[in-house]
Amino acid sequence: MKDYNMELTYEEKEILEGKKGETMRKALKSVVLYGETFGAKRLLDIDGPVHLVTSFGMTGLDTVFDMMDEIIKAGIRTKEPFTVDPRPIDYDNVECNEIQKKVFKGLYGNQGRYESQLKKLGLKDNNAFTCTCYMPQVGNIPRKGQIICWAESSAVVFANSVIGARTNRNSGIIELLCGIVGKVPEFGLVTDEGRRAKWIIELKTSKLPNAQVLGSAIGMKVVEDVPYITGLDKFLGKGMNSSTMDYLKDMGAASASNGAVGLYHVENITPEAVEKGRDLLNKGYSTYVIDDQELKNIIESYPILWKDMNAKPSICFIGCPHLSIEQIYDWSDRIYRALDKRGKSKLKLNTVLSAAPDVISKFREDKRAYKKLTDMGAHLTYICPLMYMSNSECSKQPVITNSNKLRTYSRARFLLDEDVLHAIVTGDIKEAEKFD
Ligand code: F3S
Repeated sequence: MKDYNMELTYEEKEILEGKKGETMRKALKSVVLYGETFGAKRLLDIDGPVHLVTSFGMTGLDTVFDMMDEIIKAGIRTKEPFTVDPRPIDYDNVECNEIQKKVFKGLYGNQGRYESQLKKLGLKDNNAFTCTCYMPQVGNIPRKGQIICWAESSAVVFANSVIGARTNRNSGIIELLCGIVGKVPEFGLVTDEGRRAKWIIELKTSKLPNAQVLGSAIGMKVVEDVPYITGLDKFLGKGMNSSTMDYLKDMGAASASNGAVGLYHVENITPEAVEKGRDLLNKGYSTYVIDDQELKNIIESYPILWKDMNAKPSICFIGCPHLSIEQIYDWSDRIYRALDKRGKSKLKLNTVLSAAPDVISKFREDKRAYKKLTDMGAHLTYICPLMYMSNSECSKQPVITNSNKLRTYSRARFLLDEDVLHAIVTGDIKEAEKFD
C-alpha cells in the first residue's frame, strides 16, 4: 500500500488495500489525497446525510456519469438518503421558446440518466432537488456539532453558521465520495481552530440592511475568512427565529458567492456566537465597519452586463437561494399590495419565484394563497435560475433578480427588493416608489 501522511485506522487501511473492493478503495483514496492536500492528519466519521451540488445531467460530464455507474455496479450507496441541488429545467413554469428548449436539450441531455443514477445511489426521493435542503418541508437538517460533507456554497454557509453543523466548502463529487465512505478529512471548518473569526464586522447602519447587499459587502471584504458580525441583533433581535433564518440564508449565500465565506458568526444570534461570544475572535483580528454609505458604494459598484442598458426586462427571478414558505407568502403579499396601490391585478413582467419542490407542494395545499399568487401572474418553480441563465441563448435576455449570487455568476441585473417590485408591477426599471 502507498504511504500516506495521514494517520489511518485499521479499517481505513484495509479499505485502501482493497479489502472492500476496488471501487471503495478508489473512493477512499480520493478522500485521503484530498485531505492531505489541505494538511488533514486524520479522517472523521460523517454523522449526517450529504447534500450533492451536482444536480444536472450536463452533456460532456461523461466521466462523472461513468464513475456513478461504477459505484452503482459495485452495490455501493450513501450511508443515509441524500438531497441534491435544484433541477435545471421546468418548462411548465419557466417559459422557454423553441430555440431555448433546443439549447437545454443539448446542454442537459443526460438529465434522465443522471437522475436514475442518483436514485440508485441513495437519493432521498423525487422531490429532493433544492439548494435549501435544510427547510423543514425538505428535512435534510443537520444538528449542531454534526460533521457533514456538503459542497453547495449557500447550503454550506447556512449549515455551518445558522445551524452550527460542521462542513468545509467541498467540491462537487468529493462530497459524494465522502458520503459513500462515510468520512471527511479533518481540516478547516470542521475544526475548532478553523471556526475562529479573523474579522469583526461592525454594522453601523441606520436600518436593517438588505441581506443580499450586506452579504456581498462582507464576502468581498473577508473573501474566505470567518467574520464575526456585530450590530445585526439590534435589528433582528437576539436568538434565532424563522425570519432571522431567512435573512441569514440570503445574507450567507451572498457572502459565499461574492466572496467565499463558508462560516460566519453573528453576535447574540448564531449558535456558536451565543455560546462563546467574542472569544471566537482570533488575536489580531481585522475590523470592517459597514454603514449606509458603504452599502450604497457596494451597490453602485455592481456592473450591469446587459447589452442594451435601457432594455425593458423580460424575466425576473426571485429565490436564489430557494425561498422558504414564509418568503413565498411575504412576496405574495408585497406583490398584491404593490398591484393594489396602482389599481392593477396582473404583473407586467414574467416573474418566477423559486423554491424547493416540497416547499411548493406545501404552499399549494393552501389553495387560496396559491390562487392569489398565480392569479397575479407569478410563477412558482423548483429550478435553479443560474442553470437557466448559464447558456448563451438565455443569458442574452435582460433578466432582473434580487439575488446577489445570480448577479455574480450570470448577466442578470441586481435590484433591491423594492425596485424588483416596481419593475414587475410596471414592466419597467426606474427609481422605485415605496410600496411598503
Ligand atoms: Fe440555489 Fe441555484 Fe441559487 S443552487 S443558491 S438557486 S444558484
